[in-house]
Amino acid sequence: MTDPTPLRSRAWFDNPANIDMTALYLERYLNFGLSLEELRSGKPIIGIAQTGSDLSPCNRHHLVLAERVRDGIRDMGGIPLEFPVHPIQETGKRPTAGLDRNLAYLALVEVLYGYPLDGVVLTIGCDKTTPACLMAAATVNIPAIALSVGPMLNGWHKGERTGSGTIVWKARQMLAAGEIDDAEFIRLVASSAPSTGYCNTMGTATTMNSLAEALGMSLPGSAAIPAPYRDRQEVAWRTGKRIVEMVAEDLKPSDILTKPAFHNAIRVNSAIGGSTNAPIHLAAIARHIGVDLPLKDWETEGHKVPLLVNLQPAGEYLGEDYYHAGGVPAVVNQLMGQGMIHEDALTVNGRTMGDNCRGAAIEDDKVIRPFDRPLKEDAGFIVLSGNLFDAAVMKTSVIGPEFRDRYLSNPDDPEAFEGPAVVFDGPEDYHHRIDDPALGITPETLLFMRGAGPIGYPGAAEVVNMRPPAYLITEGIHALPCIGDGRQSGTSGSPSILNASPEAAAGGTLALLRTGDRVRIDLNKGTADVLIPLEELAERRAALQAAGGYAYPASQTPWQEIQRATVGQMNTGAILEGAEKYQ
Ligand code: FES
Ligand code: MG
Repeated sequence: MTDPTPLRSRAWFDNPANIDMTALYLERYLNFGLSLEELRSGKPIIGIAQTGSDLSPCNRHHLVLAERVRDGIRDMGGIPLEFPVHPIQETGKRPTAGLDRNLAYLALVEVLYGYPLDGVVLTIGCDKTTPACLMAAATVNIPAIALSVGPMLNGWHKGERTGSGTIVWKARQMLAAGEIDDAEFIRLVASSAPSTGYCNTMGTATTMNSLAEALGMSLPGSAAIPAPYRDRQEVAWRTGKRIVEMVAEDLKPSDILTKPAFHNAIRVNSAIGGSTNAPIHLAAIARHIGVDLPLKDWETEGHKVPLLVNLQPAGEYLGEDYYHAGGVPAVVNQLMGQGMIHEDALTVNGRTMGDNCRGAAIEDDKVIRPFDRPLKEDAGFIVLSGNLFDAAVMKTSVIGPEFRDRYLSNPDDPEAFEGPAVVFDGPEDYHHRIDDPALGITPETLLFMRGAGPIGYPGAAEVVNMRPPAYLITEGIHALPCIGDGRQSGTSGSPSILNASPEAAAGGTLALLRTGDRVRIDLNKGTADVLIPLEELAERRAALQAAGGYAYPASQTPWQEIQRATVGQMNTGAILEGAEKYQ
């Protein structure tokens, strides 16, 4: 037997060459009840990175699950130490939760690096908590395992499933069209949040928790278990047990987060109909672990994969159904059957993705379709570029019949459309003006949102999915093409072209666009261009620069200013540039 790797916590607790410091470390960790015998026992010290709190209701159930994580750690001979992670509540944080992903990352890196931890359980859930935790684990590279808090139970209203987020977009349209009043609006949206847990739709939370599993960072089959279920408690205990073994095996994020693992995650994302936030977050995790993952990989690896999971917003069902149908392993097994999964990718349980998922059955084929009966062919993202931006993504799985008929069914030019732009500078401008008849919005109009990227609206706002003006909705027009340098909620069914990089605030051509300019989108060629001469664009650029550049609101907090000065663009993960060299 080889000598086990020395535990890093020993440098704090039994460092004979540094008696004074060791004593200081010891007394303060003794004072809440740990014994000297425990701290000197040589047992691994396992952190529980707690993302749940009263401020972050989506992850709050982790406060309960942590008890079972502790039990698991203890049962395997480890010592649990729980600590808080900077809260990130998607729906609660102003101006954006996106602003806090890098802040939580930064703070968690300091904790994992600077404290006596041999391994860590990452309690993931609400949108940004998952990437923040995985990014930090990638940077520090100590044994780490992710535990999802799980989705909420299904929402119901008058016999129909109401999905978190998705129902909000729909209810807003109904309210705008005068079909419901305020009270009914609240009843509808509240029905979609019936229990503890994260969004029960295939929003960014279900996406990122599924991808954490597809990357191999959480126990197989664990991502989809609804938060209140008994099985969720059990997998919390198993996760606690497993991290202690991982420390003994020295199984680190760098062993798991390899390029094949990221490509597995991209394919799973297409098959589940995952969020357009996933490319940003996976790029960020990849850069922090040192894997080259260009945005184009989303199209080359992911576009040809069919949509198998029938969850809102692309489909009908919700989180509980996803779990009962087989969750991530059933999806992976379908893709494995087509050679679309790198089966030898290692996972946190010490086995490969192939071994974990081989034979995982679909238990309900209304919710997870077999590969030969998909909901949609070629359901991954396409990556667009042109004179408006270097890169943007479009989620093709949410292109519905209404949108396809109106914009993508010209027999001479089936994948292309063009029309006049109406440009909004940030979400407030959009909300104030969208119903103004003076804008002259028609079904031919392309709606543009700018000033909503990582710098412009710090953290990047989820605002590109813009509803049409009320007068068009009442005429039956539910979606216009939306394009922008912001993000959109994964719960939105809008086939927007978004995450455009560089953003207007970073000198992107979007800053030069004017209402009335004609814009052409060609999905087949993957292009997005404003149809004005280059000379005119150059003149506009010179004029904008002379006027001091694209204007955006001033920072309101120190962190907004710091992040704006250091953040990169979304096509490369919107990480703090300069942080990736610390590995
Ligand atoms: Fe937290 Fe959707 S708002 S998971
Ligand atoms: Mg979101």
